[in-house]
Amino acid sequence: MILFKGAADFGKYLEIQKKKQLSVGFVPTMGALHQGHLSLLQASKKDNHITVCSVFINPTQFNNADDFNRYPVTIEKDIQLLMANGCDAVFLPPKEEIYPSNYIPRRYELGGLETILEGHYRPGHFQGVCQVVDRLLQIVGPDKLYVGQKDYQQCKVISKLIEITDRQSAVDLVVVPTVREVDGLAMSSRNLRLSDEQRRLASAIFKALLFTRTNLLRKPIAELKNEARAFLEGKGFIVDYFEIAVASTLTPSENNDDLVIGLVAAYIGSVRLIDNLPLNE
Ligand code: PAF
Repeated sequence: MILFKGAADFGKYLEIQKKKQLSVGFVPTMGALHQGHLSLLQASKKDNHITVCSVFINPTQFNNADDFNRYPVTIEKDIQLLMANGCDAVFLPPKEEIYPSNYIPRRYELGGLETILEGHYRPGHFQGVCQVVDRLLQIVGPDKLYVGQKDYQQCKVISKLIEITDRQSAVDLVVVPTVREVDGLAMSSRNLRLSDEQRRLASAIFKALLFTRTNLLRKPIAELKNEARAFLEGKGFIVDYFEIAVASTLTPSENNDDLVIGLVAAYIGSVRLIDNLPLNE
């Protein structure tokens, strides 16, 4: 595995691969890698000749300085894992390679996606995601881009970014299913910050989603959402939202005939966890 810190060197390496007609799959990450990230890597390795990853904790997508400062950093372990799992090259840029002094932030027109759910609770977050993904796509120019379904709204945002930057014919977005721990907790770098007791309680998020899936046709949506929220609050969570939304648009669903997805964001102590589950696919 080759390590790159400079965008220009990484770009040259990628040019050589493309000249050899080798397809490139790209997995962007913020490090603290777990099995969920490795499933993206495996999906890319299956589809492409070359798989490259980036590890960059993007400051512009954190709307809260504490969250940024506490984001887990496990870079040596990450490099070991990427190597052991057959990653061909990893990009570890310092901040100036992503945001050079002449970088002018652009405003991405994400429409309603930006103001609902995560967008509402984390103002500016999706603009930051778009900035870094736009820049990484510019540097890497992959054939396929791999993202995890755990960040369902982020998947929609990145799809919109590809559309508004006219990259639809250049890059395919591949959304890889969420990988879960044995008790159902969605794998996340933030799980590293949970105490043993919080970790034990955290599986309630998946239980609440399963409850809504089991009862989707048995109860009105408003009642289901209230019960799921109350269940989590009863376990000590502070719930930002528990929403049942139309899976394609993320607008609230009033109607049990829609194809819907349950989406949740909740704090346990100071750790904010998100998860989602298609309820009737
Ligand atoms: O999902 C993530 O880890 C990040 O939001 C991403 C896509 C790597 C951009 O920083």
